[in-house]
Amino acid sequence: MADIKATLTVDGIEESLELPVYKGTLGPDVVDVRSLTGKNLFTYDPGFVSTAACESKITFIDGAKGILLHRGYPIDQLAENSDYLETCFLLLHGELPTEEEKETFVNTIKNHTMVHEQLNHFFNGFRRDAHPMAIMCGVVGALSAFYHDSMDISNPQHRLISAHRLIAKIPTLAAMVYKYSMGQPFMYPRNDLSYSENFLHMMFNTPCEEKKISPVLAKAMDRIFLLHADHEQNASTSTVRLAGSTGANPFACIASGIAALWGPAHGGANEAVLNMLEEIGDVSNIDTFVAKAKDKEDPFRLMGFGHRVYKNFDPRAKVMKQTCDEVLAELGMENDPLLKIALKLEQIATEDEYFIKRGLYPNVDFYSGIILKAIGIPSEMFTVIFATGRTPGWIAHWNEMISSDYRIGRPRQLYTGSPKRDYPAK
Ligand code: SDX
Repeated sequence: MADIKATLTVDGIEESLELPVYKGTLGPDVVDVRSLTGKNLFTYDPGFVSTAACESKITFIDGAKGILLHRGYPIDQLAENSDYLETCFLLLHGELPTEEEKETFVNTIKNHTMVHEQLNHFFNGFRRDAHPMAIMCGVVGALSAFYHDSMDISNPQHRLISAHRLIAKIPTLAAMVYKYSMGQPFMYPRNDLSYSENFLHMMFNTPCEEKKISPVLAKAMDRIFLLHADHEQNASTSTVRLAGSTGANPFACIASGIAALWGPAHGGANEAVLNMLEEIGDVSNIDTFVAKAKDKEDPFRLMGFGHRVYKNFDPRAKVMKQTCDEVLAELGMENDPLLKIALKLEQIATEDEYFIKRGLYPNVDFYSGIILKAIGIPSEMFTVIFATGRTPGWIAHWNEMISSDYRIGRPRQLYTGSPKRDYPAK
């Protein structure tokens, strides 16, 4: 793979080091530094800002141009022409499904949406006001207690059935988490509904009344899942890969991804955005909050803004904003006060030198919360929605790694602690 090289000279090391450089299909070249340990050298890159941790064919992001491709297809084209389950198939298998493949995949997922009845009992140990992500971490990890028949990760069929079970069951568990917090009975999935209709059915219907699901809201839900489906080597996906590299079962790996996603710097940002918009309260307060976000002495950051990779508009935010307009129009909420604050905040921030200079633009989390709130989903459930959407991406990366010649992930460090010293004589 390496037809170009990088040459490294290090004071104290006589000969210069020749390091292979690899070119991908798109994106920056990478320097293979694996030979450095032989020279008693490590690379140093806290936060992995400049580190390619793996080779992957699933998703490509160009942060400068605001480009996001899933298996080569631009996210805006998928959002316009595809749907969530078709995108799940694409992420997992690398190609869009034929009509027949899609029908088989949709039916397979449908037939795995129920969870084992014993799982219902796991919820009773939680307080009703437990954070939904705390329960999701628990019950998704617990799934591994039910499938001992198919957890040989070296078996492609076991990996495929686990992928189907996770894509199918996580929305059911997500809805159960919400119902538990509401003190309402769990709703069983229905096989006559589409994936997103089914999710909204399990979330908002009750045994007393099963309302017809709005096709506009179901389409918006489907699009939100699709926009969250995958995003290259982000923190939670890298966590799933690292957990998977030890040979842990796929349910435990996805539970580790859910835990990592919870943080407000990552998937927890959508909940934090809504809390921020509600704290701002009125467009007249925006300047105060923008000033706080720019003040280095103030830990406050503008939630929903900025991204490790995108230094331009997050392409998902553009589609999310369009979906936001559609949903609010459908619900007659065009004058939603939070949307007004969000639009004004976006305008002020994207015209402000501090944000422009640092490439801080709205990211996927900035508008999603307004849509979810309009649909009736409480803010503490937002990251659960993100985790539900991201499941196929996590699985696709886990499967890509386990199918390849992988090694256990084990980073090193720059040690600056105490040199060796003896225990004081008594
Ligand atoms: C997601 O990685 C992924 O792909 C994630 C994700 C996915 O789909 O998986 O896209 C989902 O996590 C989106 C991001 C959601 N998080 C937020 O909206 C939280 C607010 N954003 C920030 O916390 C921050 O922008 C991060 C965490 C997203 C990115 O942090 P980086 O890459 O480490 O950037 P940084 O902290 O080094 O910031 C660079 C500069 C700093 O200022 P200087 O030191 O250069 O003066 O920009 C400033 C930061 O202080 N800055 C912000 C800011 N984000 C960065 N200042 C104010 N408000 C912000 N939101």
